Amino acid sequence: MAIPQHTIDQILDRTDIVDVIGQFVKLKKTGRTYSGCCPFHQEKSPSFHVYRDKQYFHCFGCQANGNAIRFLMDIGSRNFIEVMKDLSSQTGIELPKDNNDSNKLKYKRESKPKPVQKPAIEAKALPPKTGETHTAPAAVNFEHDPFAEFQNNEDAFYGNDPFAHFDQVANAFEDVPQDGNLYDLLENVAQFYEQQLPLSPIGQAYFKQRGLSADTIAYWRLGYAPEDWQHLEKAFPQDIEGLKLLGLIRTSDSGRDFDLLRERVIFPIRDAKGRVVGFGGRALNDEIKPKYINSPDSEVFHKNQLLYGLYEGRKQKANDWMMVEGYMDVIALQQYGVTGAVATLGTASNSEHLNILYNQNDKKNNRITLAFDGDAAGQKAARRTLEIALPLLNDGRELKFFVLPNDHDPDSLIRREGIENFRRLLDTSPLLSEFVFAHLTQNHNVASPEGKSQVMGELRQLTELLPKGGSYRYLLQQYFREKLGFSRKWQPQVNNDASLSFSTKIDAEEYVIAILINHPYLYIHFEPLRALVSQDLLLYHVLNIFNVIFDELPDDPELSTYYVLGACAAHHHELQHILEHANISDYTSSPEQADKLAADLSTKLQYQFLQLKIKSNKFSSLAEMRNLKQRIYDIDKKRSLTLLED
Ligand code: UTP
Ligand code: MN
Repeated sequence: MAIPQHTIDQILDRTDIVDVIGQFVKLKKTGRTYSGCCPFHQEKSPSFHVYRDKQYFHCFGCQANGNAIRFLMDIGSRNFIEVMKDLSSQTGIELPKDNNDSNKLKYKRESKPKPVQKPAIEAKALPPKTGETHTAPAAVNFEHDPFAEFQNNEDAFYGNDPFAHFDQVANAFEDVPQDGNLYDLLENVAQFYEQQLPLSPIGQAYFKQRGLSADTIAYWRLGYAPEDWQHLEKAFPQDIEGLKLLGLIRTSDSGRDFDLLRERVIFPIRDAKGRVVGFGGRALNDEIKPKYINSPDSEVFHKNQLLYGLYEGRKQKANDWMMVEGYMDVIALQQYGVTGAVATLGTASNSEHLNILYNQNDKKNNRITLAFDGDAAGQKAARRTLEIALPLLNDGRELKFFVLPNDHDPDSLIRREGIENFRRLLDTSPLLSEFVFAHLTQNHNVASPEGKSQVMGELRQLTELLPKGGSYRYLLQQYFREKLGFSRKWQPQVNNDASLSFSTKIDAEEYVIAILINHPYLYIHFEPLRALVSQDLLLYHVLNIFNVIFDELPDDPELSTYYVLGACAAHHHELQHILEHANISDYTSSPEQADKLAADLSTKLQYQFLQLKIKSNKFSSLAEMRNLKQRIYDIDKKRSLTLLED
């Protein structure tokens, strides 16, 4: 059973590592961590620490470390799946079903309508039976009623068919109702709609008028649903029950069955594995309401967890994902060479959708873009999505906002501008910090002190939604204060001469100190250094001071700097020197940048310290050495080495 990352994340979100470990280890709160005697090696004084905000444990003695899942696996010698099953029942978050749940995919197929004989042409036009491979039925040239042939075919070859005998033998088995499979049926229906398109001049004209090429139509498997109210009943007479389960056939009040999608162009919707799971149908002109009809949720179609274009984007190895509003936007962008656009299926986007998108990226480019119309409705949607996205922004996840010019969607914009201009617009779309700043300041007079504090108040409401324990919320406030021109009472002396980069004047450890004093909340990123840095360095003392005071830091970024300076008063002279020589201007340009730079710098230093430790041969046990090596390996894996060695 493969457990998707978003399920693992959800389960971890609802599990508190302090509670988990507390069941095995007696923990005592010291400063901002919990500590106790390490359960993984023998010790008398506690060097085992648990961090609630990071949901992480670390033993300074044997270097054991990890999250709650790792702890439970190691303490009980259990495998990943066993631990996840336990946590799933404790948190109530369900794991994906094993595939033996296939009963839900079954429906009763009806036996063949009598008489059993059929002309060869029908055998070709009918969909393949369950279990057969999905070869497309050959297109048949129908005149007016595409189904006339299905209905009036009994006489054609009856009586002199040399293969009648074999047909009878085969049909003797087919009289016994068989089980159908919903995925097979969906595939067959998709093929049916695809084959109707070349037969429909109006369907073809519609896509032509929307500028789609034949390749694009084939790539997205676009199709056409005919006018006939019962075309599916006629094409799939044995599969009525299945079609009803899928919502493709509905029953009127008077008891008559009819097709959901008629006289519409068809967009088959595929799941992440590429299986057709549902359909969207668009009316041929804008007078017909509703413009789009989507097939309803079913056993295999869960709109909340699906994104149109995800499968295709993955196939094209997209690494820049963008949420747009409609199917046509996804398709037009792909036709112009912009991969990775996805759309929800006629529903608003939810956190599941956003998590799915974030999980497509590798960690180095953990950014997604949300595209919105420039009008009032688009602004409203942007705000709503922003509020859904904020709680998900941990681990360096970034968000960009592509606000389109008025009266445009990505489809119409790329047609008007062409690919190059479109890309230029896309590339200059603002990051979260800039977008939020523009969004919050547009309704206030920010020249007045009242306006400024109103903006700060509204910002606080938004930053409250960001994950607890992250530094981004404070960086964002700091960024706003600076943009709004709140005067800073305390200004560190920043040396702006680029030739005096930190490596010539001060060393990397001192540079970290300068960053910490200016942006105390970045301690989150540098905390792991505490266990690794040599005890005779100032950084060691500063990190230990942070460990004690971090919980009490004032929310206000400026006050927090004063607070830190006070707590570090004993090192006043050394700090003075560092603050005079460190140029940390990179860290004040944008909050996203500061967060990312700090995380990268910390990883780079951890890596160096770990290697020093290995080289020094000073470890207490083999287990410690193994753990050190494991951590080096983890970092190697996480970031490519080229990034670390620069
Ligand atoms: P829009 O109304 O923004 O249209 O719907 P669009 O995507 O620009 O469509 P075109 O370009 O006119 O063809 C955006 C999305 O909202 C859903 C569909 O998923 C559509 O792609 N929708 C829209 C519905 O489900 N029902 C509707 O009636 C309209
Ligand atoms: Mn459109």
